[in-house]
Amino acid sequence: KRPAGAPDKNLARPVTKVGVVGAGLMASQLALLFVRRLEVPVVLTDIDQERIDKGVGYVHAEIDKLLGKGRINQDKANRLKALVTGVLDKAEGFADADFVIEAVFEEMGVKQQVFAEVEAVAPEHAILATNTSSLSVSEMASKLKHPERVVGFHFFNPVAVLPLLEIVRGEKTDDASLATAFAVAKKLKKTAVLVKDAPAFVVNRILTRFMGEIQNVIDEGTPVETAEKAVEPLGLPMSPLVLLELVGPAIGLHVSETLNKAFPDRFKVSPNLKAVVEAGKRGFYVYDSGKPELDP
Ligand code: 3HC
Repeated sequence: KRPAGAPDKNLARPVTKVGVVGAGLMASQLALLFVRRLEVPVVLTDIDQERIDKGVGYVHAEIDKLLGKGRINQDKANRLKALVTGVLDKAEGFADADFVIEAVFEEMGVKQQVFAEVEAVAPEHAILATNTSSLSVSEMASKLKHPERVVGFHFFNPVAVLPLLEIVRGEKTDDASLATAFAVAKKLKKTAVLVKDAPAFVVNRILTRFMGEIQNVIDEGTPVETAEKAVEPLGLPMSPLVLLELVGPAIGLHVSETLNKAFPDRFKVSPNLKAVVEAGKRGFYVYDSGKPELDP
């Protein structure tokens, strides 16, 4: 059955090579997912070779884990590893890519610049997808020659495990690009939903309301340990503060700030969360030992 709002699937174009801009936490998980499910060449780029090597190293290590768990055989592991490469030069990496996804720093100017650079080197038919958590897809596309090929493609952490994908139609996104995005989502075995290009889309709006409330409780003086203990019986898959560490407090703060700007009466920015980010901490807690400990 066609997902609600998805265009005719016959409009979808084939994807035979994928480009990933960024090689950080989200980008390298995306590279792994794309190579595993699409089995096409996946090229990562970043601002320096060290980051690229780290990203490719992560994907290779995760492929080895799949092999170790018996999910794939040695032949497939070798094939998948060979398909993942990294290059500094976008022109070299993306000249024949049909689908390029960016997962770089969450700042509109940075993302617009990345898309301008990709547009200059990628084929005219290539889809430019963004994994932004909360920024406007239309604005990101607005300075391009071909804004009709930009789509939001928003995944959830951990990417390999969570089934949801928010697909965002920008003001100018055309049906063929959207149909291609849905066809790719299907191959990735994700449950795709079409959402409006609104600040933080759907999931992060709801999640920020929820995460924001535990931060408010802490801001109002409840100790972190008490807040954490109090939500345990709710039976969430993960406590909100563990989730904050998984997602990264800087991303959490960025989403809150975007929502605060768009809906100041409904979303506020937690001073404690801001302090955590400014201090460069991993979260309110660290979970290395398996037992939560306050981040000193
Ligand atoms: N990275 C990669 N894989 C992970 C992982 C991680 N951080 N954590 C767990 N996994 C994998 C495990 O390896 C295991 O895989 P396997 O079946 O192949 O062995 C599988 O997940 C299940 O692991 P566990 O049995 O240890 O895990 P749990 O049953 O405790 O589930 C969880 C782990 C899926 C992470 C669960 O706790 C969960 O769903 N947490 C909530 C996550 C969530 O809400 N994410 C959304 C965040 S919002 C977001 O990302 C948007 C952004 O824009 C901010």
